[in-house]
Amino acid sequence: MNSLASLVDRTLVSHAPFQAAVREIETWFEFALEASEPICVALIGPSRTGKSRVLDVCERQHPKVRREDGMYVPILRVTTPSKPTVKGLAEVLLEGMGAADATRGTENERTRRVKYLMRNTGTRMLMIDEFQHFFDKGTKLIMHHVADWLKILVDETRCALVVAGLPSCQTVIDSNEQLAGRFHAPILMPRFSWQDAEQREEFIGILQAFHQVLSQHFQTPEFQREAMAFRFYCATGGLERFSCYCIVYPQWANQADALLAVTWARAWVRAASRLCRVRALAERSCCLIFDQACSMGLKSGE
Ligand SMILES: Nc1ncnc2c1ncn2[C@@H]1O[C@H](COP(=O)(O)OP(=O)(O)OP(=O)(O)O)[C@@H](O)[C@H]1O
Ligand SMILES: [Mg+2]
Repeated sequence: MNSLASLVDRTLVSHAPFQAAVREIETWFEFALEASEPICVALIGPSRTGKSRVLDVCERQHPKVRREDGMYVPILRVTTPSKPTVKGLAEVLLEGMGAADATRGTENERTRRVKYLMRNTGTRMLMIDEFQHFFDKGTKLIMHHVADWLKILVDETRCALVVAGLPSCQTVIDSNEQLAGRFHAPILMPRFSWQDAEQREEFIGILQAFHQVLSQHFQTPEFQREAMAFRFYCATGGLERFSCYCIVYPQWANQADALLAVTWARAWVRAASRLCRVRALAERSCCLIFDQACSMGLKSGE
């Protein structure tokens, strides 16, 4: 079905940081078997910058397959439980490999099964999303025991490790000397800056890509025109997903394919009503521009 929302969801924009991240992970995947010690890399960025989507794309290039001699899981991708323990992490890894009874067994038993299955399913890369859960924001405690366990796991299974998450991931890595020593420089997923010409172009390029897809099905305003792009930028704090929300939002609000009817001004006013939430996410440097744009937009009723 080509509803506006599903078209937006299906659209993948290969902007430069996205491509670079996919390419680097792909390189480590290829290199994993030859490396003398496990390759570890962190994919780090603020929320909604596309980290999980990067993992998605890489995982799809090397999907799990069932062969005659059993499952083949070249990339084992899991999400860190919200309060990670060795048992909990082992459980999600076992689930990821399709093991029956993933919830059974002591810590040691589960660990043994994880290692056995990773070797037997040909796992070459382990991806752990939401890695910042290894750092408890409330107590400021780092889950050292699980981090140590992970280090031993990748050492023994010789697979590459990709962890993804918010910038607090780096605290977890840095706090464990042995883990830190195994990590390459992080791959950064940035929030786009309007002041930086190159990043502004990237952001506008994303809007253009959405326009290209949507305009084949709907009469679509030119999101990529600089004045409009700037408003999108202000309403999103430079995050592509919020751009998606802004594009889709008029439809949700009106319960119809209303993009046809939605004027630019209405889209802007609706986007502006979301600003309070977005504002909390905007980096300090964005705030000034953001305030000005907001008052400009609201005063002129645009
Ligand atoms: N390159 C892209 N093209 C199109 N849509 C994208 C792209 N990157 C991300 N998105 C969309 O933006 C949304 C946010 O992306 P994603 O969930 O990957 O962000 P994240 O960095 O993992 O956020 P969080 O830290 O909150 O988990 C998703 O709906 C995703 O489909
Ligand atoms: Mg994510």
